Amino acid sequence: MPGIALVGIQWGDEGKGKVTDLLAGHTDTVVRYQGGNNAGHTIVVGGERYALHLVPTGVLYEHCTPVIGPGVVVDPQVLIEEIDTLEARGIDVSRLLLSGNAHLIMPYHLELDRVTERWLGKNRLGTTKRGIGPAYADKATRIGLRVQDLLSPKIFAAKLEVALKEKNLLLTRVYGRLPLEMDEIQDQYRTFGARLAPLIADTALHVQRALDAGKTVLFEGAQAAMLDLDHGTYPFVTSSNPIAGGACAGAGVGPRDIERIIGVAKAYCTRVGSGPFPSEADPADAEVLVEEGAEYGTTTGRRRRCGWFDAVAARYASRLNTLTELVVTKLDVLSSFSSIKVCVAYEYEGRRYEELPPNQTIFNKCRPVFEELPGWSEDLTSVRDPDDLPKQARSYLELIEGLVGAPVSQVSVGPGRDQMVEMPV
Ligand code: IMP
Repeated sequence: MPGIALVGIQWGDEGKGKVTDLLAGHTDTVVRYQGGNNAGHTIVVGGERYALHLVPTGVLYEHCTPVIGPGVVVDPQVLIEEIDTLEARGIDVSRLLLSGNAHLIMPYHLELDRVTERWLGKNRLGTTKRGIGPAYADKATRIGLRVQDLLSPKIFAAKLEVALKEKNLLLTRVYGRLPLEMDEIQDQYRTFGARLAPLIADTALHVQRALDAGKTVLFEGAQAAMLDLDHGTYPFVTSSNPIAGGACAGAGVGPRDIERIIGVAKAYCTRVGSGPFPSEADPADAEVLVEEGAEYGTTTGRRRRCGWFDAVAARYASRLNTLTELVVTKLDVLSSFSSIKVCVAYEYEGRRYEELPPNQTIFNKCRPVFEELPGWSEDLTSVRDPDDLPKQARSYLELIEGLVGAPVSQVSVGPGRDQMVEMPV
């Protein structure tokens, strides 16, 4: 002990990377437990920007072991490219551990993610097209290939043959695509295997030993509660469990190993891809949030949909995660507004909902009930002391804290590592 989980409580892109990076300074091990390279963290260190998709943030610290856990789906080509990019910039990646139980994203997963999205037409999910959903689907139907299979060419070939037979039928007969070649995939993945072999390890054992030795282990969630496969806005979700409970299954630890659960939320709200978003702002306000907040995806470059802080969704996420604290990011972006809205409830057919409606039809059609607060015009980017925050900003944070039901421990006021305000908790 202690284990700390760090999770997004909105629709992803809350700025978890920066918070993880700050915590990694005092952490022995940082574990990714779900998702894949659909995630993207931008971290600014000493003016240098690092965009990480798969490698945990801990890689930037020499004392820290970055771990890709069994619950992650790994595109080996992307992982190798990310390692190469980091090494070319002088970062030592040799400490990285990769679980042999993690599933591999295969070329047909990428192809299927693209064609099924096209097939869905106006009902498409707006996935990142990184093969995430198809890889998790194969894991669940038990025809997935795992990282450890890269070490056994015979087993790899046997499993690939089974999977590819079905995938090629699907690709050619259903989607009218060309079949994929077994030999080509085998050759390519043999090279990946040779390259990744030194990193493959029993990561759950490493994590447990670190916890038993009293070291700090950080479980780094990707995406967020509202994109959780079981608890998010299904079907507009990702295919894994980003909530803190997902860290147990995805990293291989018991629930008692996690004692601190930090939720990260933007001071406003964004989402990419399709799906309900009750607090979505009108186009003029959304434009300001996009421009001031640089709201374009790290992974796909897509413009994010922007809205006001949704306290109903955040409270729901706080409950699902049993948050012990809340970190609010990008508060500085709100300096552009003379007044700021917070979605405090939803309304549907004359009824007010203060908790997330359990029925998706209601959630899809509900209207936001906004409370409006006075804004502030001061630039917050150089504030470091909570007493230097304008009183309107403090009132805004107090309102959020009360509605979410978790104390705000830190507030981020810019992308730099040092642009943080530690709040008295
Ligand atoms: P997938 O994870 O690529 O299957 O995409 C499913 C949904 O999750 C889509 O709406 C994506 O835009 C969204 N999504 C996946 N990863 C992220 C992320 O890191 N940030 C924000 N949205 C994400």
